[in-house]
Amino acid sequence: MHSELETMFDLKGRVAMVTGGARTLGYDGACVLAAAGADLIITSRQLDQAKSTAETICKNYGVDVLPLALDQTLFDQVQTAASQAIAWKGQVDVLLNNAGGGTGNSPAILFERDPHDIEKMIHLNLTGALWCCREVGRHMAKRHSGKIINIASIAGLLGRDRKMYERNQMLGQPVDYAGAKAGVIGMTKDLAALMAPQGVYVNVISPGGFERDLSDGFVKDFSERTALGRMGRDGIDLKGAILFLASAASDYVVGQNLVVDGGFEIWH
Ligand SMILES: NC(=O)c1ccc[n+]([C@@H]2O[C@H](COP(=O)([O-])OP(=O)(O)OC[C@H]3O[C@@H](n4cnc5c(N)ncnc54)[C@H](O)[C@@H]3O)[C@@H](O)[C@H]2O)c1
Repeated sequence: MHSELETMFDLKGRVAMVTGGARTLGYDGACVLAAAGADLIITSRQLDQAKSTAETICKNYGVDVLPLALDQTLFDQVQTAASQAIAWKGQVDVLLNNAGGGTGNSPAILFERDPHDIEKMIHLNLTGALWCCREVGRHMAKRHSGKIINIASIAGLLGRDRKMYERNQMLGQPVDYAGAKAGVIGMTKDLAALMAPQGVYVNVISPGGFERDLSDGFVKDFSERTALGRMGRDGIDLKGAILFLASAASDYVVGQNLVVDGGFEIWH
């Protein structure tokens, strides 16, 4: 590789913390950061899962990996995980704030949804993510250095056509998920404004739909609504955006929402 590219993307000597890094998109992020040379902190609610992922990444990429338990809906655990992460090598340079997703078993339709599930959704996806920014961001501001990458969703940008879900006998996404992810995009912009003068970059990625355990009918419907004609691929399609925002390649990019959705959002 040309040295110019190495300067832009090399993360050797950096430490990256990936929340929810034991599986799927968080795991993909952990792998690409490790491939660029970063040592990692992998968190999962189940410590044994964080440990087994840490072993795999350590073996595959030859970087140091610290597994930690973290339920980000509990502020004490966020504080503890952040201080353990910082104490490990004395620095956290990158926070991939990935943990989130669906909560609750009640119907997705707002009027039938359990109000407590609404609260839990916003608590996990917005408050929990903001708590992680707070606890790791404080350390980054002190060092006048760091990159925070939040993970939102196109759900935070768009209204959803429910017919596609109904046709495929799926529950669909609740309005509260959209609200929480829109909140992640909003908080990213203001946090970026707060922290850029302190030397810390804050950006957000909004992934589109990734193809995983879905019926052929839904994949076809979703793909037809996507400019590139397909859903996102685990293990492939989010890695470039994460590496870009974690590395020097994005050193003049702050407060941006990078939409990685194959053109779902621009296709009308
Ligand atoms: N899969 C998609 O199509 C898609 C699309 C847009 C956005 N996203 C977002 O990408 C991120 C990763 O999603 P994914 O598709 O890999 O889903 P996933 O459900 O496989 O992963 C979610 C991760 O968050 C963790 N998590 C859940 N609750 C937690 C809690 N209370 N405390 C700490 N960790 C918790 C899980 O253990 C898991 O590691 C999420 O924020 C999700 O909302 C996913």
